[in-house]
Amino acid sequence: MRRRHDKSLGRLLSIAILSVGLFGCNSGPGDVRQWTAADHDPPGPGEGQGGKVAARPIASDETDPGLIELAWQRNCSTCHGRAGRGDGPQGPMVRAPDLTDAAWQGRVTDAQIAETIKKGKNKMPAFDLPQPVIDGLVKRVRTNRAR
Ligand code: HEC
Repeated sequence: MRRRHDKSLGRLLSIAILSVGLFGCNSGPGDVRQWTAADHDPPGPGEGQGGKVAARPIASDETDPGLIELAWQRNCSTCHGRAGRGDGPQGPMVRAPDLTDAAWQGRVTDAQIAETIKKGKNKMPAFDLPQPVIDGLVKRVRTNRAR
């Protein structure tokens, strides 16, 4: 039991690190580009001086790295479970599907996943989330794909 916990924490961390690359930059809503090293290179004003690191403001047009994970834990894991297997506390009650299922992952498109999140589907409610968060959740669902 304890072991399993540690493992999923490790997975969460790696996902959080992944989303730094995807969402750590000042891209506006809908502007989700491939991350390049140059995106992070120029230090902003106040950064890198005397070892002080400027606090990162959570602006409405910026998706905080941890936000996607938080959004998943808050909005989705109750039904879908931490890793998307449909084993959240409410999973059995609503029959949340196993989102790690390779066959499903293979036939669904990113656009369809985004659509389900935005509009809901049967027992799944619609989520009125900013587009960058939706995109992040789609990626989050993809990282859970069973191998
Ligand atoms: C109240 C429980 C519940 C919550 C909360 C929930 N879901 Fe679902 N989800 C479901 C159920 C039930 C289905 C199956 C819908 C169906 O096919 O009838 C589903 C289906 C899905 C699917 C598969 C759709 C398909 O193509 O068949 C995705 C992707 C998904 N959910 C993602 C999410 C994400 C991301 C969140 C959080 C933003 C979320 N869900 C929150 C219950 C939930």
